[in-house]
Amino acid sequence: MVAVAVLAAGRGTRMKSNLPKVLHSLGGRSLVEWVLNSASAVEPTHRLVIVGYRSDMVRTSLQSLPDVEFVEQAEQLGTGHAIQQLLGPLEGFEGDLLVLNGDVPLLRPQTLQTLLKTHQDHGNAATILTAQLPDPRGYGRVFCNGQNQLKQIVEDRDCTPAQKQNRRINAGIYCFRWADLARVLPQLKADNDQQEYYLTDAVNYLSPVMAVDAEDYQEILGINDRKQLAAAYEVMQTRIKDYWMATGVTLIDPDSITIDDTVQLEPDVIIEPQTHLRGQTVVRAGSRIGPGSLVENSELAEGVTVLYSVVSDSTVGAGTRVGPYAHLRGHSSLGQGCRIGNFVELKKATLGDRTNAAHLSYLGDATLGDRVNIGAGTITANYDGVNKHRTVIGDRTKTGSNSVLVAPVTLGEDVTVAAGSVVTKDVPSDALVVARAKQIVKSGWRLKGAKAAGVEDPGSEANPANPA
Ligand code: UD1
Ligand code: CA
Repeated sequence: MVAVAVLAAGRGTRMKSNLPKVLHSLGGRSLVEWVLNSASAVEPTHRLVIVGYRSDMVRTSLQSLPDVEFVEQAEQLGTGHAIQQLLGPLEGFEGDLLVLNGDVPLLRPQTLQTLLKTHQDHGNAATILTAQLPDPRGYGRVFCNGQNQLKQIVEDRDCTPAQKQNRRINAGIYCFRWADLARVLPQLKADNDQQEYYLTDAVNYLSPVMAVDAEDYQEILGINDRKQLAAAYEVMQTRIKDYWMATGVTLIDPDSITIDDTVQLEPDVIIEPQTHLRGQTVVRAGSRIGPGSLVENSELAEGVTVLYSVVSDSTVGAGTRVGPYAHLRGHSSLGQGCRIGNFVELKKATLGDRTNAAHLSYLGDATLGDRVNIGAGTITANYDGVNKHRTVIGDRTKTGSNSVLVAPVTLGEDVTVAAGSVVTKDVPSDALVVARAKQIVKSGWRLKGAKAAGVEDPGSEANPANPA
């Protein structure tokens, strides 16, 4: 039996942020979510998150995760004090406790499994995760004998100059036999430089304790400031991109592409340069996204192309072409084989199959059938200044250039809207609607008395009645 506890009560002063450190986002998930995610690998019976600084925010942000229990650490008196708060919630618990830092998001599930296995195979009282760091400054240093049995952990600030030379550091990730830890927790003293209760002291009281090195030291890098957040993002992006390329996705110029961990891609997807895939996005086989596109929380079916466009919270049917310079948002849904082209914005619009809007349009709060053709410059006037209204357009209807459909309005099937119309009333199927002022032509008409009207040079080329 394994319980997991995540230390997430600290403020993270060096982030210089209003947001608690563990809620900062790294590629689509908060730092603490990453940690909880990798913890799932050990199938814990308890998932405890120790919260303190702005705990309401941390609780709210994790409320969708099942079975997370929150433990309040009202005052942040150190990592040992944080774990002391578990004495109540874990009273009588017989298993092992895995302690994770909420600010170490790159930890791999396999590493935790290895840590736990070593711990259980050797019957240790505690097993700690360590790493050899090129630059160990700031971390607690770990001293072991030749069998990886712990002699001592010394915090950076308490190290002698000789001890500081040790590059083996404490990752802040531990496995404890809970009964043993619970016995020593009440003995912690805050008699150190920071006057904090150190969890590392509890480790020093226990035996036998072993240390296990992480295979890749990048896994245990903690986030304390924005620079480290950016560095972690880079490590994570490399992991994500390597993964997708191995599964058959082409990334053209990977360095210019970003992909959230929450995104799903199918084989033979091609991602072009300067493209960003975020949130709960799914891209199905054979689609080509980019260059220069942002897709977030959207599902793109097979063979979709998106070129220099933004797609948010929308679904796009197979073979549909989007862009260049289109914007889909607000839960728009496009059928198959559609074409949404240059400077077209769709908001909460539902389109059937093979419907086109190729140039310069706004379609908001609109439902379009199959094979509709939206002429250049067609606008749905969906907002009367107070409320939004819907426009409904039947199959095979065509709107002329520069028409305005004033919602609420319904056009039937096979309707033709004359160019420049302002349609304010419903139109039945199989009809032509012309809703514009009639063109008036007055033959032989000339502007008279232009001087009196203030025109300085009535004979100039600017005079429309006297074209050059
Ligand atoms: C800790 C370790 C250090 C290790 C390093 C790895 C101790 C005494 N030292 O140092 O050996 O090398 O982690 O990153 O444990 N937290 C609470 N409540 C508190 C204090 C901290 O929940 O009262 C949380 C923080 O939010 C953070 C984590 O514990 O997620 C680590 O705390 P931090 O103060 O950053 O410890 P370090 O000084 O980095
Ligand atoms: Ca830290």
